[in-house]
Amino acid sequence: MDKRLQQLKKDFQEAVSKITDADSLEVVKNTYLGRKGQLNELLHGLKELSAKERPRMGQLANQVKQELTELLTTVEKQVAKVVTSLTDFDPTLPGRHESFGHLHPLTIMQRQLEDIFRQMGFKVLDGPEVESEYYNFTALNIPDDHPARDAHDTFWLKDGNLLRTHTSPVQVRALQKYGAPFRGVVPGKCFRYESTDASHDHTFHQMEGLMIDKDISVANLIAVMKMLLQSIFQREVQVRLRPGFFPFVEPGFELDLRCLICEGKGCSVCKQSGWVELMPCGMVHPEVLRQGGVDPNIYSGFAFGLGLSRLVMMKYGIDDVRLLLSSDSRFLQQF
Ligand code: DAH
Repeated sequence: MDKRLQQLKKDFQEAVSKITDADSLEVVKNTYLGRKGQLNELLHGLKELSAKERPRMGQLANQVKQELTELLTTVEKQVAKVVTSLTDFDPTLPGRHESFGHLHPLTIMQRQLEDIFRQMGFKVLDGPEVESEYYNFTALNIPDDHPARDAHDTFWLKDGNLLRTHTSPVQVRALQKYGAPFRGVVPGKCFRYESTDASHDHTFHQMEGLMIDKDISVANLIAVMKMLLQSIFQREVQVRLRPGFFPFVEPGFELDLRCLICEGKGCSVCKQSGWVELMPCGMVHPEVLRQGGVDPNIYSGFAFGLGLSRLVMMKYGIDDVRLLLSSDSRFLQQF
């Protein structure tokens, strides 16, 4: 009887370890501890034992019964927990949304411009953000003591280099590398040491453009710019040139776009003037061509400095340039 009790205990433990749900728990309970279960069957056998053995076996059987009952109660509690957690699950609740990344508005605009320029035969180039004083200023006809340098205060490195203040240095780099004729655009980051406000940031984006060939005139500049703007805005546009000064172009211009909001009648966007200032440009100065190794008696061309940040702000109606570099996902998720 002793042995049978131990065996029963073993079988029971094994059966318990296989319980997975309320149903299998019920089966184990009935098989071992039920009224007609295996334990009771054994207890009936006590009658047949001698009077001497009976008390000891009775005690042992009760002890086993208690152990089995305790074990079963613990398992019962675990099963109950699983069942409640399953019933707590509400399959009608909406699932969690996976959020997908997407391109930054600056990147979207940059790629759109690159595509348009590529169609017009322009190369897309890169240039160093850490620049030498020579390429950033001197090669662009801005000598050491020229006051134009004041408008381009920047971050200087200990080795004498600087963070470029514009993408124009790549004009000379490109001519030195590829020579004339040349057509290219250079999108990239620029830096200025100045206090920030809604329209100024220490870091901003430009896209430089350069077209050098024989017999290039202001007419080509206007044609390329009109083509570009019509592709961006998908409609007929009008532009005008006003004189502007930049040491690396002669003559230099400010190119304005006839206001697309009011069709030139005057509104708050164009400050009632009917025109929106879009970008500086001009015919490349002979000295800059010479620095690039190109003979100004044979070649001429135009250059422009598109404010990429500005264009993105216009396109998306963003009123603070600093947002473009913010990592605030509430801003970024809108595009
Ligand atoms: N590099 C100038 C700036 O950031 C902008 C500029 C003006 C670029 C005239 C040009 C240009 O290519 O022709 O202030």
